[in-house]
Amino acid sequence: MSCCARFDGRLSDLSDTGLKIKRGGQVWPSLLWLVDLKQYTGIRLNALLDPMHLLIPAAGSGKRMGAAVNKLLLPLLGQPILAWTLQAADQASSIEWIGILSQPGDWPAIEQILAAMDLSTPVQLLQGGATRQESVYRGVEYLYNLGTVERVLIHDGARCLATPKLFDRCSAALQQVDGLIAGIPVKDTIKVAEAGPKGIQIQSTPERSRLWAAQTPQGFRLSMLWQAHREALAQGWQVTDDAALFEKLGWPVYIVEGEESNLKLTTPLDVLLAAQILQQRLGPAR
Ligand code: C5P
Repeated sequence: MSCCARFDGRLSDLSDTGLKIKRGGQVWPSLLWLVDLKQYTGIRLNALLDPMHLLIPAAGSGKRMGAAVNKLLLPLLGQPILAWTLQAADQASSIEWIGILSQPGDWPAIEQILAAMDLSTPVQLLQGGATRQESVYRGVEYLYNLGTVERVLIHDGARCLATPKLFDRCSAALQQVDGLIAGIPVKDTIKVAEAGPKGIQIQSTPERSRLWAAQTPQGFRLSMLWQAHREALAQGWQVTDDAALFEKLGWPVYIVEGEESNLKLTTPLDVLLAAQILQQRLGPAR
């Protein structure tokens, strides 16, 4: 069953192709036809939608992966992890520009990846920061200073399994709201816990039906995201995703149906799982 069926009976009709944004229990299918138009007509989606700029934070390390290099440069089924992410973004009809936030030390390796790929979307390397938040700040600052960009999608380089369709679904939804994330309903029961006298002690169990696992892409009206990042800097807020800044400011952020396979590659086990998933998508020949 579709993950969002609980919100609106109409969703069963939209389960494969639909744009599903939850807003106070309502689902908006209004851009559905735009998302799928290309499939039927071959029309590039960005001829119909505002062209979308995509920032890819890729300036992390390989620490939790146990690697000496940036984990996005590690091989996955014949090409670096970052190449898979770029390939999906490039195949998304709505994306017309990609900025990769990265450490200058990684630029030669990333340029080599780009040279081998022959992407149709223009790509720019931008300097990342010491944290993901700082990397995104720099990307948003760059785009804001251009003075022409309305909306931006942000997608972690480490989520290399996101499909082009997911990018397009987020781009389409961003025509109607100022903030959104891809997300999926949480399957596990989640406990809130902290250190107690005899170990980690549970404090509470949030109701699972209200819990969503946040993914990327996340999308925002650029001027608002810039304002939120400036405020975060001034207030010393530290967050792990950009939606959290909007939430702190009381600005609405909506959820677009994500993908269960849209894993964030963090540990070696994630790489094994990703290889399996990609192998299955590509078929046995590769
Ligand atoms: O480490 P983690 O996987 O949670 O990071 C999420 C994304 O943020 C990754 O794609 C990583 O490359 C990126 N990142 C960044 N700048 C940093 C740290 C992480 O762009 N300083």
